[in-house]
Amino acid sequence: MARIAYVNGRYLRHGEASVHVEDRGYQFADGVYEVCEVRGGRLVDERRHMQRLVRSLSELRIALPMPLTALGMVLHETVRRNRVEDGLVYLQITRGVARRDFIFPAADTKPSIVVTARNLDPTHRERSATDGIAVITVPDNRWERVDIKSVSLLPNVLAKEAARAAGAKEAWFVDKEGFVTEGGSSNAWIVTRDGTLVTRPAEFGILRGITRTVVLDVIADQNIRFEERKFSIEEAYGAREAFVTSASQIVMPVVSIDGKPVGNGAPGLVATALRRDFHRVAEFS
Ligand code: PDD
Repeated sequence: MARIAYVNGRYLRHGEASVHVEDRGYQFADGVYEVCEVRGGRLVDERRHMQRLVRSLSELRIALPMPLTALGMVLHETVRRNRVEDGLVYLQITRGVARRDFIFPAADTKPSIVVTARNLDPTHRERSATDGIAVITVPDNRWERVDIKSVSLLPNVLAKEAARAAGAKEAWFVDKEGFVTEGGSSNAWIVTRDGTLVTRPAEFGILRGITRTVVLDVIADQNIRFEERKFSIEEAYGAREAFVTSASQIVMPVVSIDGKPVGNGAPGLVATALRRDFHRVAEFS
């Protein structure tokens, strides 16, 4: 079956879908994106992803190019045309096409919209969750506005490639004070020796992950001790459990950090339970 991509109002064959050479997303990474999980053909937490999209656009002063209801229809239609049952839908909006110049183009420049969708192999994902993943740590050398979900992801690309080269699946960024910020494409969590779940506050230094927000809802009515605070890499080495959250991985247990086993080196109970409960609390549309 041919893959289809949505580009600026048209559904095109994936192999032929393209944007202009002077698209500001291409030349300046001047754009934002969202990735939504698709499960059973439905979108997971679309409403929250759209809210964050609106915030990212507004922080960069890019106009929302179409009403959110219309954008939602494009997302669902792209999922449908690609027959995605379990996978991801990707949405990117850039400041549009203009002659290369750093300053913003004319106010009537139309933002560019691209939407793609694809299936993921659920068996492969479940196997990763059963085995757990390895992470490495790298210095956080990103700009300060990582709360904006911008397509400017070069440090993340380099960090994740370093992880791959080291046989790991994710890289955790560590700030100058030795605290873990987040993963290259995920939020980072630990469970301390005394059973407290810890994740970094989302006000500064990380992306406020939608999966992170839903996990907070999952634990709200459970008897889990929780602290929203920074944790150091040493604390993570000594943790009982660790895991990451993202739309593509949901809750993924971390079984080693920089080659050192976390806890007993197997996926932890808290991470496994959160992964099991996640879709009971997430919204479907
Ligand atoms: N990444 N932090 C970073 C740097 C991310 O890129 C992501 C998501 C997250 C988790 O956010 P959410 O729970 O909303 O997916 C945290 C997506 C999946 C990606 O770039 O593919």
